[in-house]
Amino acid sequence: MCPQFDSGPRHIHDMPRYVKFHKKGPLLIEVSDKKIWICMCGLSDNFPYCSGKHKYSKDEDENKDYIYDENFNRKEIKNIVLGEE
Ligand code: FES
Repeated sequence: MCPQFDSGPRHIHDMPRYVKFHKKGPLLIEVSDKKIWICMCGLSDNFPYCSGKHKYSKDEDENKDYIYDENFNRKEIKNIVLGEE
């Protein structure tokens, strides 16, 4: 299974790629009479669907990047060094 779609918040060490989520709320998609809320913050524990965990991102500084642990504790990312393949 692709780790990107496992349930639970994603972490850099679990991910095959570094992906930055910068939205602080879901995207609503309406199909006929059905409403689907898609996670745009990256913190959902029911990804790709919104689970309400975006509440932890509400006070993020938009000029900074963060990483969250499994308890939604936030740390600012100061520097990312990517290795060569
Ligand atoms: S938008 Fe990510 S949990 Fe709601």
